[in-house]
Amino acid sequence: MYSQDPNVFFATKLKRYGEIFKTHILGCPCVMVGSPEAARFVLVSHAHLFKPTYPKSKEKIIGPSALFFHDGDYHNHLRKMVQSSFSPGKIKKLIPYIETIALSVLESWTGHGQLINTFIEMKKFSFDVGILSIFGHLDGSIREKLKHNYAIVDKGYNSLPTKIPGTAYHKAARKRLSQIVSEIICERKEEKRLVVEKEYLLDHLLNFRDGKGQILLTEDQIADNIIGVLFAAQDTTASAITWILKYLQDNPKLLEAVKFIMESLRMASIISFTYREAVVDVEYKGYLIPKGWKVMPLFRNIHHNPEFFPDPQIFDPSRFEAAPKPNTFMPFGNGVHACPGNHLAKLEILILIHHLLTKFRWEVVGSQSGIEYAPFPVPQQGLPARFWKESMSSSSQKDVYY
Ligand code: HEM
Repeated sequence: MYSQDPNVFFATKLKRYGEIFKTHILGCPCVMVGSPEAARFVLVSHAHLFKPTYPKSKEKIIGPSALFFHDGDYHNHLRKMVQSSFSPGKIKKLIPYIETIALSVLESWTGHGQLINTFIEMKKFSFDVGILSIFGHLDGSIREKLKHNYAIVDKGYNSLPTKIPGTAYHKAARKRLSQIVSEIICERKEEKRLVVEKEYLLDHLLNFRDGKGQILLTEDQIADNIIGVLFAAQDTTASAITWILKYLQDNPKLLEAVKFIMESLRMASIISFTYREAVVDVEYKGYLIPKGWKVMPLFRNIHHNPEFFPDPQIFDPSRFEAAPKPNTFMPFGNGVHACPGNHLAKLEILILIHHLLTKFRWEVVGSQSGIEYAPFPVPQQGLPARFWKESMSSSSQKDVYY
């Protein structure tokens, strides 16, 4: 958690020092990058000069072979597989199953006027969709085991950096996750579906061969990547949907869902910034970025710059009637590490919002307007709300066009 809103902290510095400036974060020298051109330089055109960088403790708890910790050939191969597993053509087949998950979670919030922590509940939805898109259909008991152990690891990951993550308890749960993935792999092999079916991410990972027909990935590498994808998918999507509900409460006319979602992603800027590290001394517009320094493209500040998005603090989906200027809108990042799950994220958001608006009603409880960082930005207290089923006779709460 931050003691100060990082958006305000970076915005103040950008105003004072310009599009690129040096600072120290937790004693570490960093170069902040606040312009679309400089962000493009780091993430796209000169991406080979910068590598992804994460704290070692986070790498350990997710799994050091997860693709986002890597660059070069290993990253490239894996990324292609992940991208093709989550391509629009592949995820189209998941629509009826995602609908079933969405309806089942929405139903579970209704009745007895129970108070819901929207973010926590959306995490259950995005987790179930993540599991579906990675494994396909899983037995109830194995899904529960995954859920239980993943929740323990998730708590360890999200603990403060000053506490030592990866206590024996979290480590044991992480180990059990790998064992569960191995059990699933074993079953898949027995089912002999490896050769013919390449439906889901796990099948892709298992079928991966090099040019000589050798299997390239170990079971540990597969487990690290599966857990990595779950991490990348769960809180981000849950946070996005929670913000959309908040904006819907404040702006009840959702006329064009896609523009509404884009504006929500801009306003909320869930991944506010990312980290890279210079692998050599790099020069950008006469400015030296020394080797080993961290470089942070500031997505949120670019999304909130009035030069690109006039009156940036105002929620206005119509601003997306015109395409944003190049490299100014990057909710899913940019370049070689841009989000391969972006189509799935948008699909699950649309499905959940569609069923929510056409079959349910809800009311946010309290009038909080603050942001919490958990570690992604979330409306205060996870947006407490109550949900009801819409009666058949009353008209739908909102008009929706896609
Ligand atoms: C609204 C939801 C989501 C948002 C806002 C989001 C955003 C992002 C961003 C900004 C990055 C780039 C990070 C960087 O450059 O350092 C990223 C990477 C990634 N995302 Fe997402 N994401 C979302 C949902 C998902 C989902 C649903 C999945 C998987 C099904 C996913 C899987 C990944 C993976 C594997 C990477 C790493 C890619 C690489 O390093 O090559 N994300 N995401």
